[in-house]
Amino acid sequence: MTVQIDHALEEIRRFRPSPEFAAQAVAGTRLYEEARADRLAFWADQARSLLQWETPFTRTLDWSNPPFAKWFDDGTLNVAVNCLDRHVAAGNGDRVALHWEGEPGDSRDVTYAELTDEVRRAANVLTDLGIGEHDRVAIYLPMIPEAVVAMLACARIGAIHSVVFGGFSADSLASRIDDAEASLVITADGGYRKGKVFPLKPVVDDALAKAEGGTVKNVLVVRRGENDIEMADGRDLWWHDTVAQASNEHEAQGFEAEHPLFILYTSGTTGKPKGILHTSGGYLTQVAFTHKNVFDLHPETDVYWCTADVGWVTGHSYVVYGPLANGATQVLYEGTPDTPHPGRWWEIVEKYRVSILYTAPTAIRSFMKLGRQIPHEFNLRSLRLLGSVGEPINPEAWIWYRHVIGGGSIPVVDTWWQTETGAIMISALPGITDLKPGSAQVPVPGISIDILADDGTPVEGEGGGLLVVTEPWPSMLRGIWGDPERFKETYWEKFGDKYFAGDGARRDEDGDIWLLGRVDDVMNVSGHRLSTAEIESSLVAHPWTAEAAVVGASDETTGQAVVAFVILKASQVEHVTDPSDAAEELRRHVATQIGAIARPRQVFIVNELPKTRSGKIMRRLLRDLAEGRQVGDTTTLADTSVMTAITEQVR
Ligand code: WT7
Repeated sequence: MTVQIDHALEEIRRFRPSPEFAAQAVAGTRLYEEARADRLAFWADQARSLLQWETPFTRTLDWSNPPFAKWFDDGTLNVAVNCLDRHVAAGNGDRVALHWEGEPGDSRDVTYAELTDEVRRAANVLTDLGIGEHDRVAIYLPMIPEAVVAMLACARIGAIHSVVFGGFSADSLASRIDDAEASLVITADGGYRKGKVFPLKPVVDDALAKAEGGTVKNVLVVRRGENDIEMADGRDLWWHDTVAQASNEHEAQGFEAEHPLFILYTSGTTGKPKGILHTSGGYLTQVAFTHKNVFDLHPETDVYWCTADVGWVTGHSYVVYGPLANGATQVLYEGTPDTPHPGRWWEIVEKYRVSILYTAPTAIRSFMKLGRQIPHEFNLRSLRLLGSVGEPINPEAWIWYRHVIGGGSIPVVDTWWQTETGAIMISALPGITDLKPGSAQVPVPGISIDILADDGTPVEGEGGGLLVVTEPWPSMLRGIWGDPERFKETYWEKFGDKYFAGDGARRDEDGDIWLLGRVDDVMNVSGHRLSTAEIESSLVAHPWTAEAAVVGASDETTGQAVVAFVILKASQVEHVTDPSDAAEELRRHVATQIGAIARPRQVFIVNELPKTRSGKIMRRLLRDLAEGRQVGDTTTLADTSVMTAITEQVR
């Protein structure tokens, strides 16, 4: 196997542009040169050429009050007009914006003209409900066209959306509603997943009962699952009674480039998720720029498919804002990859002749496990570019993706970025950069990245350290909702004026960057961020738990998996006859408190946790154990015999 991989690595190490990419190669080289010559002039050019401004800007960057950046701040624009109306005005109203595919097999094509109309109607309804500029709207929807409509309707009227992933629990939804003080929730009765309808509106009802702020005045409900739900008089409204009946005339105004666009909650090192804030002009510039250049998009001919849910940042930047700003035609799929059969994704690629596919390593690895005969049943020859995001992609998966899905000769781009960065920061540009499996490679034009030692000195040449962004970038987060102090502490305190990403990285002999995973207490499960502290606090909230420690252990398919070590309260131990029952109960508990993605793969009931003399849990040792390794150096433990006891209990 190793020999085979070495051979394949050698084969594709120097991927040269095919004639198809020649034009892109010339343009791309110019992009690097322009950005190197004058970074700010480069971004100003991109902002002008990619977007339509209501009032042109004259200032590119204001970095006088770091870490609070302002980009293009004397310009105004309307984000929804940029994603919709201008394409219709340019004569592209009949172009399909969304090839929507429901999980059960129902489908709907939505053109740019239709999407524009629908967003205008929805904007009118939101205004009628009293939603104005800066008001927060929580969106809790399945992957249906209305999710895109809801987000753009908010953008159109200057309201701020906070999309909450449909897999999150009522508690998680309630805390996000409270933190943002949302006044409207847009949801559906339910959506399809794994062949079943999963209820959403009942979860919203539950969340609103739990929310302490009482800020929500209305709930707007799309009919999708046709499951039974209750509608509260005076509070809840059906989408089809309101949006479908509203006028499609709506005059959109321009908002300042720094007008807030959305809040998206993501896990940090402490228990409480952070509301990452993004604004309009800079964000849209960088998502449009990267979507166009990293994916070499030709909007007239390409069919693009990003498999992410709009509940995550990838769905914001590379399903909604980037592709629509560029006038792309894309696939939107509601369900799971293997429903009703394991070839479902490839059937969709064949059906719509998808040419650009953007997905996560965890999905690729699950398909690898099933074997190549499943994708080989479908015609995948329309594919000409593949993308990866969410976690490091191991060379084996990269090679499999390129050969089995891509037919062996098309580029694969590995894109590194974060909820906080808003858009792709490190990636090869197809046709320009040589490709190297397993490495995210080089910063995109206009982005300045470095690797620092722990004391802040730059690592020169080959070597490893901490990844930082050294200059402000257009789509950077503008803060954490309601918590400027946490914003400064989390990202800007360690290295002063440099943004600390939380990832470890290594630069190789060619200058290419390899991402090495998080250096903080953030786990990455199937490309989704979870914090150890968040799951630990959920575990200790259970009446049986005395103490808990959570680690991310490497997992063949999901990258990392949640593994918990729990000490039960003495009063409970005698009632728990079978520890596996307790473990099962605690796994269920976490899933209901946070969401199914946070459910621990394993919960080990133990008598003690390994602690240092100062009382800090040594997660490194627990990780060794969870990954089945020899337990490392235990000399700094307060009681060195503890690990032996735990190991016996676990094995
Ligand atoms: C964290 C950000 C950005 C969209 C999805 C995740 C990891 C992301 C890569 C990649 C290695 C990656 C990092 C990062 N990550 N992409 N191509 N190679 N690691 O967004 O939930 O904000 O997570 O995901 O650890 O810090 P997110």
